[in-house]
Amino acid sequence: MEHDTSLSAQLYKRALEVLPGGVSRNTVLRKPHPLYADHASGCRVTDVEGVERIDFANNMASLIHGHARPEIVRAVSEQLGRGTAFTFATEIEIRFAEHMVARNADFDRLRFVNSGTEAVMGSLKAARAFTGRSKIAKIEGAYHGLYDYAEISQTSKPENWGTRERPSGVPVAYGTPAGVIADVVVIPFNDPDRSITILDEHKGQLACVLLDLMPHRVGLNPATSEFVSALREWTEDDGSLLVLDEVITFRSEYGGAQEWYGAIPDLTAMGKAIGGGFPVGAIAGRAEIMDVMNPLADPVLFPHSGTFSANPITMTAGLTAMELFDRTAVKRVNLLARRAVTGIEQAIKDTGATACVTGGGSMFRVHMKERPPTDYREAYVTPDESRRLNLLLDHLFAAGFMMINTCSGTTSTAMGEEEVDALIEAMAEGLTRIG
Ligand SMILES: Cc1ncc(COP(=O)(O)O)c(C=O)c1O
Repeated sequence: MEHDTSLSAQLYKRALEVLPGGVSRNTVLRKPHPLYADHASGCRVTDVEGVERIDFANNMASLIHGHARPEIVRAVSEQLGRGTAFTFATEIEIRFAEHMVARNADFDRLRFVNSGTEAVMGSLKAARAFTGRSKIAKIEGAYHGLYDYAEISQTSKPENWGTRERPSGVPVAYGTPAGVIADVVVIPFNDPDRSITILDEHKGQLACVLLDLMPHRVGLNPATSEFVSALREWTEDDGSLLVLDEVITFRSEYGGAQEWYGAIPDLTAMGKAIGGGFPVGAIAGRAEIMDVMNPLADPVLFPHSGTFSANPITMTAGLTAMELFDRTAVKRVNLLARRAVTGIEQAIKDTGATACVTGGGSMFRVHMKERPPTDYREAYVTPDESRRLNLLLDHLFAAGFMMINTCSGTTSTAMGEEEVDALIEAMAEGLTRIG
């Protein structure tokens, strides 16, 4: 960085003076410095150096239409001139809620918030208010945003994760209250037998089981039907709720990845893609549960507000984006991701590299492992895998491709087979180099 005269290096020096670590979100960090964006259009982002790259990161899976989709730009621009936030409700909020409720027969009621973190937090608080219980259960290693309870075990390591029979509740942030750790039950992904044995020890105490149907950090594998059914049956019998975190996976099907399963959740947390490029979150589910937020009730079990919740800019962008993300568009981005998986698998075979691919819907993840990992412990990246993964990511970056830093990719409606095939080719070159 010392002798780096690039504009990004200069900007990062300034950033380090005012932002801890020079960034507001750790996800954009790169060595030796983050890249700074200048502009983007469709599936291509241009940095301040003038270098253009094809975007498979899509702002951490949140941009289902890529960048600056004209219909969204037009609708938001018009709304900008009419005001961005009022101490009034707006009709666009109702229209967007009507659209989202119509996408999934199990969404009776819905509330908008400003992020996925907030949607998960609100869902857990709603589950507590509804059941009168304080504990929650979650999957080892799953990322659900920054809420204390949802964070537990997200970064567990071999030295502190305990046994498979009893995964430890490991806090992420220093200073996490002991009471939070005590109130979180950690269960292994796609392991119904061990999970049910653990859950049985907390019968009558859990507000909910929180589940991401294809957790990214747990390996980006879809949950098995057997696992989802086991959790659904157990929670129903226990009087606790099944809360799905579809912040990422909602993009997988028209009504969310839950369409892959017969089991119906009680609540669903959403975010990312449904905001059309703007900060968003939403909680949806059964009317009697969502009613804990009903301000007309007496008492109100879970008073819920947010200064920018349902602001008309996000509502306009989100409604426009979701209307454009119709069943045909969903199918198309999923087929593109399938093409990427098949092509990368072939590249791995052809090059003889030690690597594999997982994924589902419009997402995929490349692991530097011989066999696809099935849970967090198998997906855990060893130091040698991390070294090889970073070489591959650097190669892709230099070849003009942006990926999520776990070497995960997402497709968008702004790309076609040409861009996917170009990624596969670059991936084959990179795998040949690193072996
Ligand atoms: C599955 C999942 N849940 C929740 C969140 C938190 O969303 P946000 O970053 O909008 O707070 C994320 C973010 O990556 C996520 O992937």
